[in-house]
Amino acid sequence: MSNSFPKNKFLEGIFEPCQSEYNLDNLNVIGKIPSELNGTFYRNGPNPQYVYSKNYHMYEGDGMIHAVSFHNKQVTYQNRWIRTERFLAQQAAGKALFGGMRDRMVRDEHAGDCSHNTANTNVVWHHGQLLALNEGGLPLVVEPSTLATLAFTDFEPKLDRSMMAHPKIDPITGEIIFYSYLSPTMDFIYFIADAKGNITHKEKLNLPFLSLMHDFAITEHFTIIPIFPLTLNFARFMQGGSIFKWEPECGTHFAILPRHGKNEDIIYFNDASCLGMHTVNAYEQGDELILDMVVMHDIPEGAEAFVDDELSIPGYLTRWIFNLKTKQMGMEKLDIMNMEFPRIDERFTGLPYQHSYLASSYHLKQPYYLFDSITHFDAASKTKAVHYLGEDAVPLEPIFVAKSPEAKEGEGFLLFYVYRKKEQRSDLMILDAQNVAGEALAVIQFPHRVPFGFHGCWVQANK
Ligand SMILES: [Fe+2]
Repeated sequence: MSNSFPKNKFLEGIFEPCQSEYNLDNLNVIGKIPSELNGTFYRNGPNPQYVYSKNYHMYEGDGMIHAVSFHNKQVTYQNRWIRTERFLAQQAAGKALFGGMRDRMVRDEHAGDCSHNTANTNVVWHHGQLLALNEGGLPLVVEPSTLATLAFTDFEPKLDRSMMAHPKIDPITGEIIFYSYLSPTMDFIYFIADAKGNITHKEKLNLPFLSLMHDFAITEHFTIIPIFPLTLNFARFMQGGSIFKWEPECGTHFAILPRHGKNEDIIYFNDASCLGMHTVNAYEQGDELILDMVVMHDIPEGAEAFVDDELSIPGYLTRWIFNLKTKQMGMEKLDIMNMEFPRIDERFTGLPYQHSYLASSYHLKQPYYLFDSITHFDAASKTKAVHYLGEDAVPLEPIFVAKSPEAKEGEGFLLFYVYRKKEQRSDLMILDAQNVAGEALAVIQFPHRVPFGFHGCWVQANK
């Protein structure tokens, strides 16, 4: 298939869509693949099949999953578009049928009533299912070995409304905690499903306002929902305004409730306006809850969301401490480096932890979302180790894989894609997570480009 795309910075270089679906098993490997790696690294990201207009935004492409499988030090790779209703309708029509938010979400008459869900943001493993997720769509079930799309929704009872893209999985109970908010109904529903995918808790939360609520955090007993003032309003959009609007006068709020709590159990903490997209982790310490997050603190007063593609804002590792007894709150920047896409050893989700891994800017330059290094941040010593990749390279989110189920926190590997600008192709790099600044253990070379994407996961073999 060959499509021509309009001129747009989110369709060039690292963003240029991959227009082929590959099955590769003879990849060139530099170094030695650790024998402990036995499973598959899945990664999701926007990769438009067709583009409606030059107003395309990088959040809007059709989801494509890239999967690298490791077995006895052998590597195989495949990538597949997720067959959403939207993908299938556009494929049948041979053209784009859906305008994005900068095209007022218009729909071609051939779109009928099919969903515009791209499923392009995350891919997670829970109750034996691989789920492709988007901010405001139903979860799609993907077959883990072929990447075939199996179903347009999941859980018992079946979800009948959108699921956000960053659910949290409790490593002890196996529960999955998530919410649904990006809906014309303008309400917020909080969900918990057990380890088998049965929904055990569903509660409408009456938050002070809705906004871009991309991520949240859990602790052993609590859920922390940050509400930043990038407000969401479908009524405003229907009247010609923007879906999301930066309204700093609304302030930042944190809704904290017991994990299985109700709306009336929410405790609020309030702070100055800022914007965070991704949480690192949260945990309990006596009467306090600790929340670590990447935060943009310096947003210009009159900034307009999703309008000026030249505007990007650095993000900093930031810690909030909420005292549930005294109701006091503290905030501090943990580091001064521009970082994003934080990941941890997820056996410690919601628990006291020490290590996080992020894409970072060793040399600060715009746009701030294209990084040049991977950083290991040690929250105990507040020190970091940086693996700089050079001017020609752009790394994507690093995933942590434990060496074994019994390994101590941080004992394992980091896996991440690196885009090589000059060669217009990508590598998958494997670092020792305890020696991030050191030489890569292995580099797997792809003949093609794995485009800019968002999030992924590791699934151990035979899970
Ligand atoms: Fe995200």
